[in-house]
Amino acid sequence: MTEKLQIAKAFVNYFLSAKYPKKEDIPFLSTLYHEVIASKKNYYIFDEIEALRGVLLRNHQKITVKDLGAGSRVDKSKIRKISSITKNTVNDAKTGQMLFRLVNFLQPKHVVELGTSLGINTLYLAKAAKNSSVYTLEGCPNTLSLARENFKQLNSKNITAIEGNIDTELKTLLEKLPQIDLVFFDANHRKKPTIDYFKACLPLAKQKSVFIFDDIYWSLEMKEAWQEIVLHPQVTLSIDFFELGIIFFRNDLPKKQLILRF
Ligand SMILES: C[S@@+](CC[C@H](N)C(=O)[O-])C[C@H]1O[C@@H](n2cnc3c(N)ncnc32)[C@H](O)[C@@H]1O
Repeated sequence: MTEKLQIAKAFVNYFLSAKYPKKEDIPFLSTLYHEVIASKKNYYIFDEIEALRGVLLRNHQKITVKDLGAGSRVDKSKIRKISSITKNTVNDAKTGQMLFRLVNFLQPKHVVELGTSLGINTLYLAKAAKNSSVYTLEGCPNTLSLARENFKQLNSKNITAIEGNIDTELKTLLEKLPQIDLVFFDANHRKKPTIDYFKACLPLAKQKSVFIFDDIYWSLEMKEAWQEIVLHPQVTLSIDFFELGIIFFRNDLPKKQLILRF
């Protein structure tokens, strides 16, 4: 069976098994799911970030892209339109707004994002908790320079953008942080780097830390990485939303792998 078919099969499995959490199951999860993850609550900043996305989607200027990860499935060229990067690489509003509500709910102090791209999700993460410090890492200088302009335009002061290969820069960053409360893994969509980055972040994870992995079914490698991560002894609850996965470390949560609707 081809990789495409296996991923399609994984989606059918997800579709048939994904549920809504019941209140009596895990109270913390029920609150988190209904009030945060699946909530439709709107915040004024959503319009500002989405207006910025609209500007980027209409910008057909070309830039040279340096991709240190698995690359884009749709646009493989080294010279790409800003509009194409926005359309094909940046997460949709639904994911960004879920990240915003999650950060707003958890109020993490130290947030790390792997893979900045144009900074749309960085803005969702940073605007949700102005007292938090958001560190975002990106390997493509031209893309990061546009992201920095976007941070300036939306007057975001709590973002530190780090240029370089995450394979080396993540370690340097983590040495400077006392702990990490939330990590959004959205860079190199390959198995080994995903697991390596996860393991690098683990020693700084606390009981209440939350790690989010984007594109857990982007490829068979990503599916395997996710399956290995959820089985790690430090991980308690994990939620598979197909588009992304969330893991928790809290001892008061059961060691369980849930598949929920997103
Ligand atoms: C899917 S995009 C990130 C999207 C972004 N989080 C959003 O939705 O707004 C992945 C980004 O990770 C970067 N990347 C991939 N592998 C990398 C690596 N090893 N080091 C640094 N950046 C990397 C790519 O250049 C790309 O911009």
